[in-house]
Amino acid sequence: MGGPCVPSLPVMEALFSLSEEHQMIRDSAREYAERILKPNAARWDREETFPEEAVREAAASGFLGLTTDEEYGGAGLGNLHAAILLEEVNRWCASTGVTISVHNSLVCSPIQKWGTEDQKARWLPRLASGELLGAYCLTEPQSGSDAAAMKTVAKRTDGGWVLNGTKAWITSGTHAGLFVVYAITDPGGRKGRNVGCFLIPAGAPGLEIGKKEEKLGIRASSTTEILLQEVFVPDEDVLGDPGQGFKIALDTLDGGRIGIASQALGIHRACLEDSLKYAQEREQFGQPIFRFQAIAWKLADMATELEAARLLVHRAAWLRDQRARCTKECSMAKLFASQACNRAAQDAVQIHGGAGYTTEFEVERYYRDARITEIYEGATDIQRLVISRHLAQ
Ligand code: CAA
Repeated sequence: MGGPCVPSLPVMEALFSLSEEHQMIRDSAREYAERILKPNAARWDREETFPEEAVREAAASGFLGLTTDEEYGGAGLGNLHAAILLEEVNRWCASTGVTISVHNSLVCSPIQKWGTEDQKARWLPRLASGELLGAYCLTEPQSGSDAAAMKTVAKRTDGGWVLNGTKAWITSGTHAGLFVVYAITDPGGRKGRNVGCFLIPAGAPGLEIGKKEEKLGIRASSTTEILLQEVFVPDEDVLGDPGQGFKIALDTLDGGRIGIASQALGIHRACLEDSLKYAQEREQFGQPIFRFQAIAWKLADMATELEAARLLVHRAAWLRDQRARCTKECSMAKLFASQACNRAAQDAVQIHGGAGYTTEFEVERYYRDARITEIYEGATDIQRLVISRHLAQ
C-alpha cells in the first residue's frame, strides 16, 4: 500500500489561495466588470440589447483570447484563469458572461487543440482580437441532450463538404463571425463516430441566421437558429478528422462546463452580496432582518455553498490545465455550482420579499439568469448521467 496521498504544492495553491497571476486576472476582470457591466447590465437585459460595448472592451483587455496561445495573439492563460475571470464578469452581467465563455471555451479552445497550423494561423488571431466572435453549433431542434442524434448532414463533394440542416439555441448567433458547426458525415455510420466539425465564416453562401429566441434570462445575449442550405466548406476548414467531430464536441464541452459553472459562481455571489446588504439595511419588528435566524442562516448556507462550489470549479479547471482527463470533475462542478446558484437565487428573492419580485432590485434578474446554468451545456440530469457513467467504469 502506498502512503497518504499528499497534494503537490500547485494543487494546494489552486485550492486554497490564488497565485499572483491569478489575482491579477481577477483584479483586472473586476475592474472591467464594475466599470462596463455594473452600470449597464440591467438596461441591456430590459431592452434585450446585445452587449457590444462589453465585448469590444473585453477584446481590448485580452479577454477574447484567454486560453489561446500567445503566438496566435492570445493571452496563453489556462482554464483556472478563465474560471476566475468569468466569475467576476458574471457577478455583474450573465449575458456578457456567456458570450465570453462560449467564445473562449467552445470556439477558440477546440481550434487551439485540434486545429492544423494553417487553421490556427487563419482563425485564432482574428478571434483573439475580437474581429470575429465565435459560435458553437451542436444542438438542433430535435436533438438537445441526445446530441449525437443530430440531423444536419455534410455531403462529400470536390474539395470539401456541402452542409444542410438547422442548428438551434446558438449563443451569439446574430453577432458571430465564425461558426463551429457539427454535422453527420456518414449517415450509415456508428452514432457518435460519424460526425464532422466544420469552421464556417459568417456570410458563407447558404448560411442564414434564423429566429431569435425571446428568453426568460440572459436576455442581452443573442440566441438564434442557424439555417444551413447547401453551404460549401472546403477541406481546409474541417477541424480534426471527418469522423472525429463528436469527440471534439464532447471534449470541448468539458471545458465549456467549467465556464458555465463559473457563471453560476458569479450569479451566486451576486445573490449573496445583494442579500447580505439588504438584510442589514431592511428593518422589521424594530431590527435589521439579518438579526433573525431565519434570514441569517439562509445567508450562512449561501456563503458556504458558494465556497464549496468554487472549490469544485477551480479543481476541475486546474485538472484541465494539467491536461488530465477530467470529464467527471467538470460535470460535478457544473452540477453542484448551478444547483447551488439556483438555491441562492431562490433565497435571495425570498430575503428581499416583495422588493425582490420587482425590477427595482437586481435579484429579480439574477433569479431569471440562474435558471439557464442548469440547462445549457448539458442539463443537470445529463451531468448526473456523465458522472454516474464514470462511477461505474
Ligand atoms: N471527451 C472526449 N471524448 C468523449 C467524451 C469526452 N468528454 N465523452 C464521450 N466521449 C467519446 C466516447 O468515448 C465515445 O467514443 P467511442 O465511440 O470511441 O467509444 C463517443 O465520444 C460518444 O460518447 P457516448 O457514447 O458517451 O455518447 P452518447 O451519445 O451516449 O452521449 C452525452 C453522451 C453525455 C449524453 C452527450 O450527448 C451530452 O453531453 N449531451 C448533452 C449535450 C450538451 O451538453 N449540449 C450543449 C449544447 S451547447 C450549448 O449549450 C452552448 C451554448 O451556446 C451555451
